[in-house]
Amino acid sequence: MQSELDFKPVSYSQTTLTELMIPAYANFGGKIHGGILLSLMDKVAYACASKHAGSYCVTVSVENVEFLEPVDVGDMVSMFASVNYVGNTSLVVGIKVISENFKIGTVKHTNTSYFTMVAKNDEGKPIKVPGLTLNNEEDVRRFIEAIKRKQIKQVYKVELDNAKTSIKNEMDKKLLAGERCNFSFTF
Ligand SMILES: CC(C)(COP(=O)(O)OP(=O)(O)OC[C@H]1O[C@@H](n2cnc3c(N)ncnc32)[C@H](O)[C@@H]1OP(=O)(O)O)[C@@H](O)C(=O)NCCC(=O)NCCS
Repeated sequence: MQSELDFKPVSYSQTTLTELMIPAYANFGGKIHGGILLSLMDKVAYACASKHAGSYCVTVSVENVEFLEPVDVGDMVSMFASVNYVGNTSLVVGIKVISENFKIGTVKHTNTSYFTMVAKNDEGKPIKVPGLTLNNEEDVRRFIEAIKRKQIKQVYKVELDNAKTSIKNEMDKKLLAGERCNFSFTF
């Protein structure tokens, strides 16, 4: 049975990473590369997850990465990470990304994404993570949302596998009607 010591509150591992967006991070359009933001998100997810787990962690999956607003050179980007959910060896870290421009006084919420991480021991074997103490309604809401996302992901995976099978069987021309593609062969 788990003792109280096997649980940690969300606040214990909450982590913020703030970084100035320098010109070296820009793409050819003068905005910040999505890959730079993803790399910073992975970093803060690792810091948050490994603090909660008290061990090394690896990234298993990333959900909900949609950059809704561009980030400009000179912006100060802050990533707020907290453990939303724990399984047995896995944990979900929610990351809210905010981009601030001090010169013109704007604050943009660019995205909120979810990183699933797995704790590992020195031999690379997944290990049990501490439980999560939920101290307020927001903690509970995030935990429940993570359970729902997990359920939806399972359904989505089955649906996608079924869709792949039916594509192979039917090569459905009706689905392609109205799409911006043409054919260089007959089928
Ligand atoms: C993730 C990994 C540890 C899973 O190993 P495994 O032997 O399949 O272990 P398990 O099946 O017991 O899964 C371990 C946990 O990962 C979770 N998991 C596995 N695949 C998952 C996926 N696609 N999405 C979300 N969670 C997943 C399982 O649900 C399980 O969680 P739980 O213990 O909380 O129930 C293994 O695939 C791995 O090491 N991958 C490489 C990770 C890595 O190197 N990342 C760096 C980026 S390249």
